[in-house]
Amino acid sequence: MVWPRDFASAGERAGALSARTSFRIGGAPEYLFEPATEEEAGEVVRACRARGVPLRVLGGGCNLLVAEGRIEGAVLATSRLRFEHVLNDRVVVGAGVPFPGLVARSADLGIPHLSGCPGIPGCVGGIVAMNAGGRFGHVADALVEVAGFDLDGRPFRRRIEPGDMGYRSSAFLGRTVVTSASFLRDPALDKDAARLRLVEASAWKRATQPLSAASAGCVFKNPGAGASAGALIDRLGLKGERVGDAVVSAVHANFIVNEGGAGFDDVEALIGRVRERARAAAGVDLELELQVWR
Ligand code: EPU
Repeated sequence: MVWPRDFASAGERAGALSARTSFRIGGAPEYLFEPATEEEAGEVVRACRARGVPLRVLGGGCNLLVAEGRIEGAVLATSRLRFEHVLNDRVVVGAGVPFPGLVARSADLGIPHLSGCPGIPGCVGGIVAMNAGGRFGHVADALVEVAGFDLDGRPFRRRIEPGDMGYRSSAFLGRTVVTSASFLRDPALDKDAARLRLVEASAWKRATQPLSAASAGCVFKNPGAGASAGALIDRLGLKGERVGDAVVSAVHANFIVNEGGAGFDDVEALIGRVRERARAAAGVDLELELQVWR
């Protein structure tokens, strides 16, 4: 078995996670595993479990703020799980497949319910675990089945049930390692209509969000039905607020962008400042959407 044998040396090969996060921030983990197959991913989970090494899963690194310095324990990166099998009623996709590319191909692949999801960075595993989405749709709309391992390394394959997928959350987040997901396929899909929906949703995203900046997407969850954290932060006059190179985006106030040299502490301090103002000025407790590794 390759993975447990390589265990001790894996950490030496691991570079800083700043190269693997959209924020461009983050230190090196003790161990970094990049399994090439779902079976290998299971071996990694079991090897970590057997050694009592804490394990974190890294998808596209797009919704993640990672501390600098040494990250304790092991990181399993899904980046090499990049397969795609087109069946009649579904498309089975590896957790490491970049989501924007899948969305762009969704019309051709015959997946109806992903055309509302352009402009969402990340890889399929993280997107599923977080139930990423936006105004025009969420990944849950298209999802039929998820496979992976529980934290003891036991494989699972689960048909999505009502209640599995929540607001920027799912039954899989923090409790499993997702290695693949199946998306509903309709061979009779009107591909031109789906392409049009993609183009429209994409234009709207580009106009309203700083998609090309180094950021981790929305920082805070929306505080209740119909309320927008971005609109609230904007109303409080916090667009452009900065700590070092960490800045509240002028395009969408729920994004913090790294203008180049921002570190973990800068982003954390800026998050704290926004939270304080929201509490003091509007009586709102903003909850983080972003995942933080420290
Ligand atoms: N608004 C402002 N100022 C801002 C931002 C927004 O006035 O700086 C206003 C908008 O004009 C709009 C309202 O607030 O009237 C809502 O804004 P938007 O439609 O952008 O939606 P949101 O609630 O701020 C949510 C998701 C986004 C997702 C958009 C798609 C959360 C926390 N945010 O944002 O998700 O892309 O809807 O409409 O759920 C993410 O999860 O990372 C993310 C970006």
